[in-house]
Amino acid sequence: MTARPSPRPQRIDQILFAQGFGTRRECAGLIEIGLVRVGGEVVTDPAAGFVAQGLALEVEGRPWVCHEQALVMLHKPAGYECSQKPSAWPSVMMLLPPPLRRRGVQPVGRLDQDTTGLLLLTDDGALIHRLTSPKKQVPKVYEVQTARPVEPQQVQRLLAGVVLDDDPKPVRAEGCEMTGPQALRLTLVQGKYHQVKRMVAAVGNHVSGLHRSSFGQLLLPATLAPGQWAWVEGLAAITG
Ligand code: URA
Repeated sequence: MTARPSPRPQRIDQILFAQGFGTRRECAGLIEIGLVRVGGEVVTDPAAGFVAQGLALEVEGRPWVCHEQALVMLHKPAGYECSQKPSAWPSVMMLLPPPLRRRGVQPVGRLDQDTTGLLLLTDDGALIHRLTSPKKQVPKVYEVQTARPVEPQQVQRLLAGVVLDDDPKPVRAEGCEMTGPQALRLTLVQGKYHQVKRMVAAVGNHVSGLHRSSFGQLLLPATLAPGQWAWVEGLAAITG
């Protein structure tokens, strides 16, 4: 991540505010009326000092582990848009708890409404840039279902490079293998708009189902059900 966690104690009302539990006044109010526990103990003094990173809170009965920067993974289900202002489908933001939404987390790149799988979100703009910049070549793995049987030359063409309609320069898959008669595993290091669907269409097939199974070194955990989210503990989980 770009900024290091601060080792210095901060006021608990300030910590709650930074974690996204409301305005400064609302956070102080939650503390004063006894709705905040730190390490299991009720804290009623808004000025009490704690080191924020890793602090185990309970706010209105709900547990929360403080993270100075938010970096989370979501198992995106179909039927959600990555846009903050979705047009036809609910936003993936609705799947996150209010404190993360208030902190302004944003998706790291986008998945289409009908795509499922691993979506990263963070409140760190520099990190979004780092993970999506074409220069960084962060690999993303997609499990693709195709409408028609996959032909070996389609795999060869995807690996060799295909020209898409918005750029004369060919884009190639970093990896491509058949995983079934109508299934491919495709690894891409770019993040162009509808890239998988357009590349598969360019070789004469059609994507009928799309799931992202990894981003960098981070695999979507089998234990994370569609619609669930989890903290990513540090950038190294993604970049190695
Ligand atoms: N490529 C696509 O076509 N769609 C996605 O959602 C992601 C990559």
